[in-house]
This record gives sequence, structure tokens and C-alpha cells, in this order.
Amino acid sequence: GQWLGLSSAPVEEDDGSVFVAKEEDFKDSQRIRGTVKDREVVIFHHEGQYHALDLRCYHAGGPLHLGDIEDIAGQTCVICPWHNYTIALATGEGLYQGTDPLDPLRTKKWFSKGVKQRIHKVNVKNGGVYVTLSDTSIRCDSDDYACEKLKESENTV
Ligand code: FES
Repeated sequence: GQWLGLSSAPVEEDDGSVFVAKEEDFKDSQRIRGTVKDREVVIFHHEGQYHALDLRCYHAGGPLHLGDIEDIAGQTCVICPWHNYTIALATGEGLYQGTDPLDPLRTKKWFSKGVKQRIHKVNVKNGGVYVTLSDTSIRCDSDDYACEKLKESENTV
């Protein structure tokens, strides 16, 4: 699918949220990438709900804004285009398919690895979509790939 990149400088509101896009900008691709205080994020619009996540996949930094959206085990997920990791949009949990060793039939089921991808809060005000970053003092695996600055420094090595 297509995505829309916005180039205007983000402005922080009094409540710490940052304007990322207008609601109407989601019409075509149902997703927008943005930068909130040096952090790359993607916002998905799915069945009337907005979900913001770190844009770079926690596994190896894959571009989640290019991933497919699928309903898996009752959760809406994005599938990373690089190695097909599955991330629940509402929680940031990494999901994987496996078998329960105690199940004699070894039926394949979905399990959670816990929260791996950082999610952020989305507010809609006057047709604008605003993102508030979650508390980054608690580490999340996707932090390793989240910042433009980090990427730049990696590129210079
Ligand atoms: Fe996303 Fe590997 S980078 S699955």
C-alpha cells in the first residue's frame, strides 16, 4: 500500500501531544508515518480506531508502515514485511505460532512473547490526529531502532 510522509515540523501541544496528520490524510492508505520528538512512529487507522506504534520493527528495524494488517487470534496485527513478525496493534505484543508440548495433537496456536513494540497514545482533536509518546523510561525492544538519531549514528559506522 501507499503511505503519506509529512514533512512539516511537529509542534508540541501543552499536554505533550504532537500533531501528526489530519484524519482525512488516512483516507487512502489508512496509515501515516510521522516523527514525534525524534521518534519514528506509524499510525494505523483500522475499523475506526487509531493505533500508534514505533515504526521500526523490534526484530531488526523493519518498516512496519509497509506491513499488511491481519486479524489473528482475535487481535488486529501488523505483519512486518521483512521477516513476517506479527505485532498486535492494540498492545504491541509480539505473537508467534507454536504448539503446546502438553497437547498430544500438537495443534498450532498463537502465543504472546509479551510487549515488544512500543505503542503510543493517539488523540483526535478537531479533525487532527495527535500522538503522545509512551513513557520511555521503561525499556521496550523496539527502542533499539526507534530514533532517527540512532539510525544516523549507525550509518556513520
Ligand atoms: Fe521485522 Fe524482522 S525486522 S520481522
